[in-house]
Amino acid sequence: MAEKKTYIPALGYGFLTGWYDLAIKLTMPERKFRGRLVDELAPRDGEAILEFGFGTGQNIIFAHRRNNKTALTGIDIDPAIKAIAEYKFNKLGLDVALQLYDGATFPFADNSFDKVFSALVFHQLDRETKLACLEEIFRVLKPGGRLVIGDWGRARNKSARMAFYLVQLLDGFKTTNDNVNGLLPAFIEQTGFQQVRETGFINTGIGTFSYYTAIKSTKPPLCR
Ligand SMILES: C[S@@+](CC[C@H](N)C(=O)[O-])C[C@H]1O[C@@H](n2cnc3c(N)ncnc32)[C@H](O)[C@@H]1O
Repeated sequence: MAEKKTYIPALGYGFLTGWYDLAIKLTMPERKFRGRLVDELAPRDGEAILEFGFGTGQNIIFAHRRNNKTALTGIDIDPAIKAIAEYKFNKLGLDVALQLYDGATFPFADNSFDKVFSALVFHQLDRETKLACLEEIFRVLKPGGRLVIGDWGRARNKSARMAFYLVQLLDGFKTTNDNVNGLLPAFIEQTGFQQVRETGFINTGIGTFSYYTAIKSTKPPLCR
């Protein structure tokens, strides 16, 4: 009997995971999109920061280069990609706590992190999982904490929309449609976050990459 697929690997299929870094370098302006992600994150001395879906660890490497006085933690569901990130961090001498996610509960106490960030992950989650993960992120953020997401968003021109079909063929239409239909901000708000904003976007060769930020307010929302 075929094993139930519980998550989509970084490049859609497990056998491609070892090629992930090269695929990103060839298809995306990596310095630009990761640099902008770290701009949005604005890591400050002493902050506890979690990356959800750290993949091969590239964002953590960029964030550490920007500020090496933060406490960085990562969580991902795929043991194969975690092994790649660990290998890279060991080579670079980076001290980052990486954890495997069981797909249900983040292994962190409530109110643990000043900031949580994530890139290129939500388009791989079905709607129910998107909302469940946003709820877990909300739970582990401190009151006043900031969420930063970079992921595929509403295509800003025809060629970006056409090119995004390549991502949809690899990752599936079910998980990616909500992104390209521009629904992520509504989901973030629905989970209880406030000040939800799309702060910018980059048109890449394979689609429009958008940045979203939100705050876990110290005050309760007016209606939930
Ligand atoms: C396309 S990769 C992005 C990796 C990295 N964030 C980056 O910017 O390059 C998506 C990552 O999300 C992870 N992922 C997929 N489903 C997940 C889930 N349900 N929970 C946590 N991580 C998940 C995959 O294992 C993979 O590492």
